[in-house]
Amino acid sequence: MLDVRRVLTTMTAIAAALATLAAGGQKPKTPDWTIPPTASQEPNPIASSPAVLARGRKIFESKCQRCHGRDGRGHGPEAEADHPAGNLTDPLRAAFNPDGVMFYKIWNGRESPKMPAFKNELISREEVWTVITFVKTFRKQAG
Ligand code: HEC
Repeated sequence: MLDVRRVLTTMTAIAAALATLAAGGQKPKTPDWTIPPTASQEPNPIASSPAVLARGRKIFESKCQRCHGRDGRGHGPEAEADHPAGNLTDPLRAAFNPDGVMFYKIWNGRESPKMPAFKNELISREEVWTVITFVKTFRKQAG
């Protein structure tokens, strides 16, 4: 025998859950980067040098390579299969990514496709500028 009251209670519960979800119980989607409007004018305070590039490479290897890949093309072992991490070698992307813009992409991260916010990853601002200096050398190789 079908217990009508139980069925109704269950349906009410499901409807309530769906309503909560529709009303914003879902995680808000913030898929894009958070980049202040003045970012592109922010200069990199770290001048490039062999020592800086060597430090930048170390930071890249420990924090970025797992997604961006050893060659910077975005196919590291932890990159999403259907959405590779950014191709850092693409010279055409350089125009969209002055140092100041890259800084905030790395600092604030992105929800989808996922890149961690490095301000939460025990990395200093100075280290972010340093890894940016290194990452730009990928572009020259693509030249
Ligand atoms: C968990 C994976 C992951 C890690 C770790 C990661 N990234 Fe990313 N990165 C991504 C994804 C995904 C994108 C976005 C690709 C897109 O927009 O299509 C991205 C995009 C970027 C971009 C922008 C590329 C462009 O052309 O707009 C830069 C610059 C960048 N990452 C640098 C770094 C640096 C430097 C590190 C290390 C400090 C790092 N990423 C670590 C996944 C990652």
